[in-house]
Amino acid sequence: MTEAYDPAREGAQMAFDGRMSYTDYLGLDAILTAQHPRSTAHDEMLFIIQHQTSELWMRLALHEISAARGHLQEGNTRLAFKMLSRVARIFEQLNNAWDVLRTMTPSEYTEFRDALGESSGFQSWQYRLIEFTVGNRNVALLKPHAHREDLTQALEAELARPSLYDVAVRVLAKAGFAISADILNRDLRQPWRADESVQAAWREVYCDPQKHWELYELAEKLVDFEDYFRRWRFNHVTTVERVIGFKRGTGGTAGVMYLRRMLEVELFPELWHLRTEL
Ligand code: HEM
Repeated sequence: MTEAYDPAREGAQMAFDGRMSYTDYLGLDAILTAQHPRSTAHDEMLFIIQHQTSELWMRLALHEISAARGHLQEGNTRLAFKMLSRVARIFEQLNNAWDVLRTMTPSEYTEFRDALGESSGFQSWQYRLIEFTVGNRNVALLKPHAHREDLTQALEAELARPSLYDVAVRVLAKAGFAISADILNRDLRQPWRADESVQAAWREVYCDPQKHWELYELAEKLVDFEDYFRRWRFNHVTTVERVIGFKRGTGGTAGVMYLRRMLEVELFPELWHLRTEL
């Protein structure tokens, strides 16, 4: 009989008493003991892990978007591009993840839906922070976080900063494009309103990509991100309709009708509108 293969003979580290192991480094004890189903339904574990993994990817997305914005502000455009490409890939990953959740039928979800109480992704502060960071700002959506001072502060702090799109438009202004003063001095807490001077600037970039290559690339990185983000919204609303039909959400909104309305949100409106004019 051949002897069982022992990787230790080739140098694999096998003893971790007093040394940092994989489990220690990744904090897996905390992560893998954070699943607390509130029912005996088999599918609740899928539901919890799907949300938790989405939140982990959102954490990384925030890390990358904030850094990309910082690099844009400092003129390190190339570094920002790399990070924005990664963010689009993160959303692609999140999009693929819906396939796993879609294996849960309405009958299976109904078995544990009551256990969620009024909790809902609507209260995901990281999702809201992503929206605020890229540019979709709505102070009304601070309210579900009022009971948590730390989260409210994090969201408020973001509203005081220029969003990723504000920064991109300032890059246009720095490059010499005539951007209206109302836009450059706008109240950062307010939603972005599509502006003709911004659209004219992007249009010029698209009319001569060779001359404005970096800005052209920036515009396409932003569109790429929004494209994947829109797909996430679409996948979400389709999954929701498939699982709960037109019932109200646990978060209290009209459910599918609320989410359909969110499909109309444009993060970078001028970048979409100019396409009709080319
Ligand atoms: C069967 C699975 C799911 C159902 C039935 C569902 C249902 C809903 C509904 C009805 C809403 C509207 C708010 C409300 O009234 O509750 C909502 C919002 C939301 N859900 Fe889900 N959801 C599901 C899975 C997920 C997953 C896996 C995530 C990932 C984190 C997620 C994240 C969100 C977010 C971020 C919102 C807020 C969207 C916005 O305000 O634009 N949902 N969900």
